[in-house]
Amino acid sequence: MKTLIAYSSKHGCTETCTRLLSDCLEGEVERVNLKEESEVNLSTYDTVVIGSPIYAGRILDDVRSFTEENMDALMQKNLGLFICGMQEEHTIREELELNYPAVLRKSAVVTDCFGGEYHFDTMNFMEKMIIKKVAKVKEDVSDIREETIQEFANKLNAVEPIGS
Ligand SMILES: Cc1cc2nc3c(=O)[nH]c(=O)nc-3n(C[C@H](O)[C@H](O)[C@H](O)COP(=O)(O)O)c2cc1C
Repeated sequence: MKTLIAYSSKHGCTETCTRLLSDCLEGEVERVNLKEESEVNLSTYDTVVIGSPIYAGRILDDVRSFTEENMDALMQKNLGLFICGMQEEHTIREELELNYPAVLRKSAVVTDCFGGEYHFDTMNFMEKMIIKKVAKVKEDVSDIREETIQEFANKLNAVEPIGS
C-alpha cells in the first residue's frame, strides 16, 4: 500500500502532524508540502491524506485548490482528511465540515482534527495580537492529539489497497 500525505502549514504544526501520522501508517508513505509542489500525480497512490491548518475559519488556499482540482481522482482513493486548529470541539467539527467538500467527506475513510499549537515566535505582529485578544492566550501552547492521529492511521491501515 502506498500513501501520499498532501498538506500545507504556516507555522509547522500541520507538518509535525504529518510526520507523526506517517510513523503510524503501514507501507510506503510520501509527504508533499503543497506550498512547494502543487502538481502531484496521484495515480500511483492507493491512499491519499489531505491536511491543513485552519486560519480564520478556513483551510489554506493551496489545500483548497488541490482538493478542487483533483476531486475526481481523490474520489477513487482511500481518502483521509484532517485539519489542525485550536477552536473548541464543536467549532472545529464545523470547520472540518465547511472546508472539505461534502462529496469528499462522504467518500473518505476517516476525517478528524489533530489539535493544534500556538508558537508566538513564529507569528507576525497581527497574528500575535489576534491570538492574545481573541483566544486570550499569551504563551505557547501545544495540543497535538497523538491518540487521534494513531486512530486515524489505524482506520487507513485497515482498508484494502485499491484494486486488490
Ligand atoms: C491568526 C490565527 C488565526 C487562527 N484561526 C483559527 C480558526 O479560525 N480556527 C481554529 O480552529 N484555529 C485557528 N487558529 C489556530 C491554528 O489553526 C493552529 O495554530 C494550527 O496549529 C496552525 O497550524 P500550522 O502551524 O500548521 O500553520 C489560528 C491561529 C492563528 C495564529
